[in-house]
Amino acid sequence: MNLNDYLKKALEENWATGHFNASESDQFRAIAEAAKDLNTIAIIGTSEGEAKHLGYFEAVALRDAFRKELGIQVFLNSDHHKSVEAAKKAIDAGYDSIHIDLSAEPYEKNVSGTKEIVEYAKNFHISVEGELGYLRGESKIEKEKITVKPEDLTNPDTAEDFVLSTGVNRLAISVGNIHGISMDEPALDIERIKKIREAVPKNVALVLHGGSGIPDKQIKAAIAVGIANIHINTDIRVAYTEALREEFSKNSEEVVPYKLDTTAREAVKKIVKEKLILFGAKNRI
Ligand code: G3H
Ligand code: ZN
Repeated sequence: MNLNDYLKKALEENWATGHFNASESDQFRAIAEAAKDLNTIAIIGTSEGEAKHLGYFEAVALRDAFRKELGIQVFLNSDHHKSVEAAKKAIDAGYDSIHIDLSAEPYEKNVSGTKEIVEYAKNFHISVEGELGYLRGESKIEKEKITVKPEDLTNPDTAEDFVLSTGVNRLAISVGNIHGISMDEPALDIERIKKIREAVPKNVALVLHGGSGIPDKQIKAAIAVGIANIHINTDIRVAYTEALREEFSKNSEEVVPYKLDTTAREAVKKIVKEKLILFGAKNRI
């Protein structure tokens, strides 16, 4: 089964696939091993910054290595690639999933650029995600209060037009979610997700970005109305860096890198497992 098949299965069976970001090979391994332990698929994403750090070809090689080593499906996504050029770079490198995010552009430019990537990707038989609506914040612990404005939110009718005009396989939406862990509790607009789900053809998966910091109850409610893929980054970044900081301060004389960073890998694995269980992704292969 390819990624689109898994997303269809998730929607039909009322669970969600997890998408987890990585910029280090250790995080990559932690995510893949967590998926293996829970008998499910792994979707690993690199933003433009993360891909630049890890290397596009290294990310592809890691995906192939973990497919071979663990015998599970590992999909590699170009998360939030913000230009046609950047998305094409990921496709050419061998990514099997593309997120072309032109949501900050005027609508017509978003449609034409996304469509260009859908056409380009056809030769490679990969899954393409577009984005509509404005998502505030960055994948970090936010130190200022972020307010989602009504005009940020995805309009169900425009969502229908967008997916029909572009031909995307997945749609990232703005429904009260933000990137990063916010100071106050986010409030997802569940009714809006439901309306978008009704407006958009069933073979297009709805994606919830900004999964860190959203209470479990709201995550479950979002899945119940049709979210089939949830992105987590900040929780991974926090788990990894906090564990590293602790190891370095506890063992200031240690010079063997793998003795210092193993707990960080385990911390990432733990959080990924918790999220996969929350999403209902366990034993879905
Ligand atoms: O694309 C990445 C995700 O949307 C991450 O969001 O950092 O709030 O978990 P997050
Ligand atoms: Zn995102």
